[in-house]
Parts: sequence; C-alpha cells; structure tokens
Amino acid sequence: MSRRILVTNALPYANGPLHLGHMVGYIQADIWVRFQRMCGNDVTYVCADDAHGTPIMLAAEKAGVAPEAFIADVKAAHAADFAAFGVAFDHYHSTHSDENRRLAESIYRNLKANGYIASRFIEQAYDPVKEMFLPDRYIKGECPKCGTADQYGDNCENCGATYGPTDLRNPFSVVSGATPVLKASEHYFFELSKLQAEVEQWLDAADVHSSVKAKLREWLDGGLKDWDISRDAPYFGFEIPDAPGKYFYVWLDAPIGYFASLSALLGNDQAKLGQFIGPESTAEMWHFIGKDIINFHGLFWPAMLKGAGHRQPTGLSVNGYLTVNGAKMSKSRGTFIKARTFLDAGLNPEYLRYYFAAKLSDGVDDLDLNLDDFVARVNSDIVGKYVNIASRCAPFLNKYFAGQLSARLSPATAEALGAYFGARPDAVFKAYARRDYAEALRQTMALADAANQWIQDVEPWSLAKLIEQGGLGPFRTKTGREVAFGSADAVRTALHEATTAFIEIFRLLTVLLTPVLPNLAAKAAQFLGDAAGRAVDAPQLGYTVRAFEPLATRIDPAQIKAMIAASTESLAPSEAPKAKPAKAAAAAAAAAPTAAGDTHASIEDFARIDLRIARIEHAESVDGADKLLRLQLDLGPLGKRQVFAGIKSAYPAERLIGRLTVMVANLAPRKMRFGLSEGMVLAASNDDGGPFLLAPDDGAQPGMKVK
Ligand code: MSP
Ligand code: ZN
Repeated sequence: MSRRILVTNALPYANGPLHLGHMVGYIQADIWVRFQRMCGNDVTYVCADDAHGTPIMLAAEKAGVAPEAFIADVKAAHAADFAAFGVAFDHYHSTHSDENRRLAESIYRNLKANGYIASRFIEQAYDPVKEMFLPDRYIKGECPKCGTADQYGDNCENCGATYGPTDLRNPFSVVSGATPVLKASEHYFFELSKLQAEVEQWLDAADVHSSVKAKLREWLDGGLKDWDISRDAPYFGFEIPDAPGKYFYVWLDAPIGYFASLSALLGNDQAKLGQFIGPESTAEMWHFIGKDIINFHGLFWPAMLKGAGHRQPTGLSVNGYLTVNGAKMSKSRGTFIKARTFLDAGLNPEYLRYYFAAKLSDGVDDLDLNLDDFVARVNSDIVGKYVNIASRCAPFLNKYFAGQLSARLSPATAEALGAYFGARPDAVFKAYARRDYAEALRQTMALADAANQWIQDVEPWSLAKLIEQGGLGPFRTKTGREVAFGSADAVRTALHEATTAFIEIFRLLTVLLTPVLPNLAAKAAQFLGDAAGRAVDAPQLGYTVRAFEPLATRIDPAQIKAMIAASTESLAPSEAPKAKPAKAAAAAAAAAPTAAGDTHASIEDFARIDLRIARIEHAESVDGADKLLRLQLDLGPLGKRQVFAGIKSAYPAERLIGRLTVMVANLAPRKMRFGLSEGMVLAASNDDGGPFLLAPDDGAQPGMKVK
C-alpha cells in the first residue's frame, strides 16, 4: 500500500541569501522525496521563508525598506536558488502570511485553553535610545575576566571565559551604542514541563537517529523548562491574541509555517488539511533539519502539537554542518560560497547534489566539501563512469543496428547481464529509503565500475573495426583475451549483444541515479525512449534508443577558481563591522590605521601573511596591459601559481625566468580581466626608482616560508 508522506525542510531565515551549507539539508530532503515518489508513495513536500524576528526587522531597517518588502525580495531569491538546484517543493510559502497567522493563533489559543500558557514579569536588557528590548546577541562589552573589548554576552573570544550578558563590563547596545538598562515587562510562557511525559513518549516511538535521540533524552533528563514565547514591541511578527504590544517569538510561529505552507497548497481546505495535521492523521510527517535546531523540533514542537491537539512528527532527519576544504566556511578564504555564486560560475547544480549525496549517510556527522575532491569525484563518477557507458556504446548501436537493442542474448551474456539486476539495485533502494545516500551511490558506482570493466574486456570499438574491415580476428584485447570469429554474422552478433547489455546497464544506472540527478536522468531518458520508464527488476531487451547527445561535461578547475575568487572578501578594511556603535567607534578609530606607520602590527598580524620563496618559471607580457607581466611561479611542494605583476617597465620578461623572488602566497585570489591572479610578488619602489624585485640569498628553495 502506498504511503502518504508530508515532508518539510527547515525554513530559511529571510535575512540573506542561501549558501552551500544551507543546501545540504534541502538537497538531502529533495532526494528522499524523489525516491519515495519513485516507489509510488504519495509525497507532499513544503517549505517557506522564516520571515519574523529582530534580525530581519533590523536588516530591513538598515536596508531602508519596510520588512514586508525586504522579506518578499529575499523569498524570491531563495525560491530561485532552490529551483536551480532542483529542490522542487510543492509549495514555498512565508511565515508572514494569513495562513500562518490563523494557525499560530489557533495553536496558541488551544495551548491556553488547555492550561499550558502562563504569564509573569521578567527583567531584561533594554536599549533606552532605540526603545527596544535587546536579545543577548545585540549586547556587547568588555570581557569581565580579561577586559578584551567588543565581546558578546556569552563568552570571550580572547580568554575563553563564559558568562552572561549582564556580566559584561561597559556593555553597549549593538543597535544604538547606548548603555542597556534592565527593564521589567510581562512575558508569556509555554509550560513545557507539563508535557514532559508526552514528549518522552513521542520520542520513544519517533523515527529519529540514535545520536539525536540520545541528545534529546539528555535534555529531557535535565527537565523541560518553561519557554518564553512572547516578545515586546517593536517586533516583526504576529501580535498575540488579547495581548496588545506582545508578539509571538519567531520560533513559536516558525514550525507552524510548515502547516501554513501545506494549507496554502491545499487551497486552505480544512478537511484536507486535517488529514495531515489532525490528531487522527494517518499520514507520515517528516521534518528535515540541521543539527543546530534539534531542540526546537525534538522538544518544543512535539510538545506544542500535543498540547494543542494536533498529530506529532513521524520522524526527524537531521543533517550535520558543511565545512569547505576542511574548515568552517570563511569569507577571507573564499569558501563562504553562496548558492548563487556556485551557479554563476557555470557549475552544474546537480554535481553538488551528487557530491553531497555521496557524503551523506543517515547520521548527523558534519560533511566536508573538498573542492579538489569535488572536481575529481564528479568527473570520475558521473562523466567517466556513468555517462561513459552510453557514450562508448550508443554510437555503435545506432550505426549498425538502427538503435535497436538485440531481442535475444546468448546464455552467457544473459547471465552476465542478469547479475546486474536484482540484489544490487535492491540494496541501493534500501539505502535510499534509510537516507544512506553514500551507500546507495557506492553500490551504484560499483555496478558502473563492473560495467566499464566489461566494456574494456569486450572492446566494442575493436568489434566495430572488424565489421568495417570485414575481418574475423583474431585480435588481442587490452585485458589479454584473444578474440576470433567464425563468420561476419558472428562479429555483428557479438557487437549487438555487448552494446545491448551495456545500454541496459546504463538504463539501470539511470534509474538508480534519478533521485540525485533528476535533470541528467531526464536527458538520459530522452535517449532511452520508451524503455526509460520500465522496471529494473529484470533486463529489458529489443527496444530502440534515440540518437545519443552528450549528457554531461567535466568540471573545469578554472570554474572552481572563479567561484572562490568571486566569494573572496579581501582581508583588509571591509572586514571591519559596518556601522560601529557610538561607544565602540572611538576605540575602533584609535585602532584603525590611518596612514602607513601610524600603528604597530602585532606579531599575529604578521603571521597572517604567508610569505614564500618562489621560482619564476615563466614570464610573459600581457596583451592589452602595458605594465603587466604574467608570471608562472613555482612554489616547490606548494605547487604553482599564476600572478600578474606591474613590473614590466623594469623587467623584460626573459630576464626574470629562473629567478627566485618572494611572494605573498595567501592573498585572496583576484579575478582580473586577463585571468586569475593568485598572489603577489614583492618589490620595492618610491618616486626615485623601482620597482626592484626582492630576491632571497643563495640557498633558498622554492616554497620556503619567509618569517
Ligand atoms: N529559520 C530557522 C529554521 C526554522 S524551521 C521551523 C533556521 N534558519 S537558517 O536559515 O539559519 O537555517 C536553515 C537550515 O539550514 C537549518 O536546517 C540549518 O541547520 C541549516 N544550515 C545552516 N547553515 C548550515 C551549514 N553550514 N551546514 C549545514 N546546514 C546548515 O535555522
Ligand atoms: Zn576574556
């Protein structure tokens, strides 16, 4: 019987563009949705922008637009990015919507009627200039332990001390610079503690990874505390019914946004909606989220649903965090990559889907996007293994057999082909079902490897050559087999059977890759014609394929370089916070270099610059730039770099070749009209002369660090 499944993805905040880290969870969910549909299940897949809260309110203010206009722009950008990456929601909504207001009010009223809402006065930091209460992250000050300036109210970046925002010395509001005061106001609380047993019960039965369960149980064992669900004006959100000036905290109405999006999709048909969210719902409900928001989805949300008389989630799928090249994404290293920047570099978004899938198991581990590995893996697996099968065989099938697969196979070929079907595909499907995509792709690629070996062993191109030359062999294959035929017919039969088997394996692989590579699979289906939709429990024979169009191209490493260059923010002035609050501004002004020599560089400042000895391997002038030379630098074990240097007036290119010099090796790469510049060489000059290229003493080797 087919399952009815509601799938949701965490709602991205409407305060900025999506980056590749975000994409992990959305791609993960989309693959599962496509897989479940392929299995014949009835899946509804929804998401929305999370549009409320202080950061969005302030971001809109800073942009000088109304929050409604601000969130509309961000939502459009998010939706376009999702579409480009093939993340195909049935509906994409906003938490700032009528549906969400109605649902949030209704859930709140139910919680209140059922005795789960309490109110009491609490004291909080308040910005007397901006006239607003300050969330913790909007208060900074000096570390109470070591005195370092400009620290947030949770821990010190310098000495590591942990403390609360009220412990900060000389605290200031990040919004206005004013000194916060403590002010009391009435808040509404959701009394989670009253639903502790119900949440524990839900968790026992829910489909949640064991490590996530363990974390949730740890929190539950500590006892659930009441949750503050109200915020005072000014706040961008929904006003709480019968509580003027009080707003729902963004995390109260955010998960309700799942239902709001679903409701909008269903044309707000209450009966249909009830089948998904009512207490008797028989549909499954799965939330795909990142590991940082487990508490909201594994404690608060199930409690809210229970307390308000709704069904609870069937399962949570939790993804780890993305790192790039082994480290946290970094703007200065160019690894804080926006989804849009990836697309603009001309990279195929399905390649990212493939790479993420290859690294996603059902666990919560962080995953790394290693860009070299990304290029190697995609080029090898998708182009070199999968597409290769069709591109090597289709031309022969088309040329000699009018594109029609053989209707019959010899027992030996039938047996060899049959071995590809059955057990392995079954293992792939099972792995997809439990979201172990890494395993699904490992098994799929094992089939592709075997098929490529088989092709190598048969050498269809050598058989085609025999046909062309009217020969019967013998010839020796690269795998060392001697091949000979008794008749011209036998040669043709061998080629026909082989290409038939290989195209069938290609069809099988296409089906197995469809959830991950939907577009590529659709292109392959064009080629496969009628057979594309057939089952893969057994080989299909005798069908006719169409002309073969190239399906996929390799990634050019230059695209990766361009993407990094476009993502790199220079280290220097732009890293300083934009609008400095009044109080901190004075301190910042004192620390900011105004002219060369005004300030001391610390040894740490110096250590951030990676100076290296480089050998100028090649130098040439650059067309259209009369001052520039293009240098090819050899850094020994660190590889090679291309650098554009404005030294042509003093150095003819030929004179430089072979010389050693000093370069800044960790300068952010810069895209120039002539190509990518990956660092700079050091030269001295003033009004009297230069540039004079720096050179090390005898004995220095390329790659040595200058310190
Ligand atoms: N608005 C909340 C979610 C509300 S759900 C009712 C939120 N938004 S977010 O924009 O910060 O994050 C959206 C999703 O992306 C979350 O699942 C989050 O865990 C995930 N990720 C954000 N950065 C990530 C990485 N660097 N790596 C992997 N996932 C990341 O949280
Ligand atoms: Zn400190």
